[in-house]
Amino acid sequence: MGQVASPEVGIGMVGYGMMGKAHSYAYTVAPVMRSLPHRPRLRVISGRDEGKVSQAADAYGFEGWTADWRELIRRSDVDIVDICTPPGTHAEIASAAAAAGKAVICEKPLAVTYGEAASALDAVRKAGVLNAVGFNYRRLPAVSLMKRMVDEGAVGKVRLLRATWLSDEFVDPAIPFDWRFDRSMGGTTIADLGSHLIDMATWLAGGIAEVCGQSETFVRQRSNRAVTVDEASSALVRFESGARGVFEMARTAVRRPCDFTIEINGESGTLAFEYARLNELLYGDNADQPQLYGMRRIRAEHETHPYSRNWWPIGQGVGYGASFVNHLGDLLDRWPDGPWEPDFAQGAAVQAVCEAIERAATERRWVELREVTHRTGGAQAEHS
Ligand SMILES: NC(=O)c1ccc[n+]([C@@H]2O[C@H](COP(=O)([O-])OP(=O)(O)OC[C@H]3O[C@@H](n4cnc5c(N)ncnc54)[C@H](O)[C@@H]3O)[C@@H](O)[C@H]2O)c1
Repeated sequence: MGQVASPEVGIGMVGYGMMGKAHSYAYTVAPVMRSLPHRPRLRVISGRDEGKVSQAADAYGFEGWTADWRELIRRSDVDIVDICTPPGTHAEIASAAAAAGKAVICEKPLAVTYGEAASALDAVRKAGVLNAVGFNYRRLPAVSLMKRMVDEGAVGKVRLLRATWLSDEFVDPAIPFDWRFDRSMGGTTIADLGSHLIDMATWLAGGIAEVCGQSETFVRQRSNRAVTVDEASSALVRFESGARGVFEMARTAVRRPCDFTIEINGESGTLAFEYARLNELLYGDNADQPQLYGMRRIRAEHETHPYSRNWWPIGQGVGYGASFVNHLGDLLDRWPDGPWEPDFAQGAAVQAVCEAIERAATERRWVELREVTHRTGGAQAEHS
């Protein structure tokens, strides 16, 4: 009998909720679907509740568990610390992991404030460790194809970008208070849903220079506690390139499960993505014959398309889980030299846009991004 002996990379995961499950799934599936130079080994998972974290360790395939994330960070067999806890805990855990010399993967949003995000960025830069933020939707094959087509000039210079993220998560006023309603722990709807949109928008169309916004909280008390986050927000944006954009993010949209859309209108074409049809991309080309007026529905599964070779034959499609497999697979593929992207610099740049939208909504005015980034000390974020 032959023996399989791929080199391994030790994973320590902080948090066992929905994202703990999604990342564990990705570490398990990635080596099955693609060839990786290092096999992820699920060493240890941490959580505050011993009963629940031990159950999660068993279900997700971890060798061990601990109720203390600091213990996880100290372990010599952990190479990558993967943070899947609420945003209010991210900067502290990420900075401690970096100081211990670990590579860090952190779920989005990177932090609750731009200042916190910048301090986490400082910490990973000082330590010189690889770092990444969980903007997994870039790695949906159709969204990756959209990026490639924009870069190859399929729509010409980008003029307009429109993005929405709607869910009905907060519609019912009886939903009890938890971290998602607490600004200091969960962050805003702008940061929760909007951070994905802002990441994809800046990846596709470049940095944002200026924003204007509005926010509302319709149910202001839950479980007799004050809700401190917005439930719905929208923003107008001006990109550094001169392109214009509109974002809407809401957790109060009835019968919207978790839908996002992105549309780009360039000088010579349009590209549109809708999450409910995640294996497809709509493309309208101004050079098409007039009698073909309209949009083509591209099946983003052809062998020439991003990630298709790692998945099933054309026509079978992929789902939500594939974005995590593609994301963490790409990071593992580049272990240990990197580069990893999107990284903490991009995470902090996104956080700055979130904060600018929030400020614009509160102060009822346009806010330039440099008002947020230049007032805070520490590392400057840039888009990547
Ligand atoms: N990329 C995506 O598609 C996506 C989707 C959902 C959530 N997220 C992000 O992932 C992170 C976790 O979200 P989730 O949906 O897994 O949440 P969850 O509530 O399902 O799980 C949170 C985990 O963190 C632990 N935890 C809760 N409060 C804590 C605290 N104060 N200190 C330490 N640990 C704490 C919980 O015990 C649990 O293990 C958030 O930053 C969220 O924005 C990303």
